[in-house]
Amino acid sequence: MSTRNTPNLNQPREQWGTRFGFMLAAAGSAVGLGNIWRFPFVVGEGGGAAFVLLYLGFVLLIGLPLIIGEISIGRKGRSNAMDSYKVIQPNSKWYLNGFIGVIVNFMILSFYSVISGWALYYFILALTGNLLANEKNYENAFGGFITDPIMPIVWQALLMSIVVLIVLRGVKKGIEKWNNILMPTLFVLLIILVFKSTSLENAQEGLQFFLQPDFSAINSGVILAALGQAFFSLSLATGMYVTYGSYKRNENSIVGNAGGIVFLDVFVAILAGLIIFPAVFHYGIDPGRGPDLVFITFPYIFTDMPFGTIFAVVFFFFVFVSALTSAISLLEVVVAFVKEKFNLSRKVAAPVTGIVITTVGAFTALSFGPLSHITLFDLTIFGLFDFIAAQVLIPFSGFLLCIFLGWVWKPHEVKLEVEKEGNKFPLFKLWSFLIRYVIPVVLLVIFLDSIGIL
Ligand code: PHE
Repeated sequence: MSTRNTPNLNQPREQWGTRFGFMLAAAGSAVGLGNIWRFPFVVGEGGGAAFVLLYLGFVLLIGLPLIIGEISIGRKGRSNAMDSYKVIQPNSKWYLNGFIGVIVNFMILSFYSVISGWALYYFILALTGNLLANEKNYENAFGGFITDPIMPIVWQALLMSIVVLIVLRGVKKGIEKWNNILMPTLFVLLIILVFKSTSLENAQEGLQFFLQPDFSAINSGVILAALGQAFFSLSLATGMYVTYGSYKRNENSIVGNAGGIVFLDVFVAILAGLIIFPAVFHYGIDPGRGPDLVFITFPYIFTDMPFGTIFAVVFFFFVFVSALTSAISLLEVVVAFVKEKFNLSRKVAAPVTGIVITTVGAFTALSFGPLSHITLFDLTIFGLFDFIAAQVLIPFSGFLLCIFLGWVWKPHEVKLEVEKEGNKFPLFKLWSFLIRYVIPVVLLVIFLDSIGIL
């Protein structure tokens, strides 16, 4: 088996230690604030169950086929997100699509580290018994914290230090080891919270909102939001699967792993909904209230609950851990690139990249407070980063990815990669049809819409 065909490395390439290493780490990337913090409020804004169905459709028909393709690129190229394209198509400009991925990860981590820092802060507040108090106004407390000129940056920097320390240890001893510990913890916490929340009084109403579709709520905005959610939540078209796939052994099934990742990501999103909506309805909170849903709603809920303090610790630990495993992957994509491009060791590449991202990210943190007056097209710095990365570059890069897989590298080559070591590629014909004809058209429409052309 060739582990030495990277274009610019003379040591053997790192690899995952066990069969589950890749899957858990990729699921760790997928499962994150996107499932727990973002999913509930976009479902709330998108009118509930009808949105959820659309999201599920996109995950299966667009997400799963693209994940299979992206992993194949990484495993074939055995390089960072950009150079993997170069290995497959030398003498072409397709590597630029991989480069877009590196930029996207850089930009997402800049603001993702800010929200993850909030989660870390709330976890520590809960742990030290300082989160909950009777008569406390949680709106003001949260607002005061995120607009402060210093504290959000301190927590963001702390969070990034943890991420750098893990990535610095490498693929097996850092990323894989920590995902193996953190992901199962996450599932246990999740199950505990589902039981608690669905046994609340009025849980029924919340479950209905979440699970009983009202198709009249669907319009083009809702469709776009559901697609955006599917992409962001699966970490799709960002080079994560290429990078993590490049450390993957040939004997492990790509289709099987892709299926497992999609299952886990959807499972956590659905369970997060089962936790959040019963609670939201129980306390009469507007499910469409937006991004602060988790940080404001939950403290109220826990204040009112027996053993609330313990549940607050569990819940915010859960939010923090899920964010951490995603932040690890966001940093790893950039670090793998920096390390291989500039021939640096991981020990140098990880902290340097981390410091640059934290510095840029500090501006997105400040855009909730002191820099909130700086706007472009009505977006704050935070909003602008989110918009450019998640709504412009990701669909654009996803579109190019389809063209690359379907028309440049070609489906039969992808099939050869997937079927290595006797592995199967079930429904290959359907995959090929979706990748060549269906997904690129859908993505092009979305892209044109997001930049305002349609
Ligand atoms: N999928 C992650 C989440 O749901 C976010 C993410 C996006 C991570 C893109 C990596 C790349 O929170």
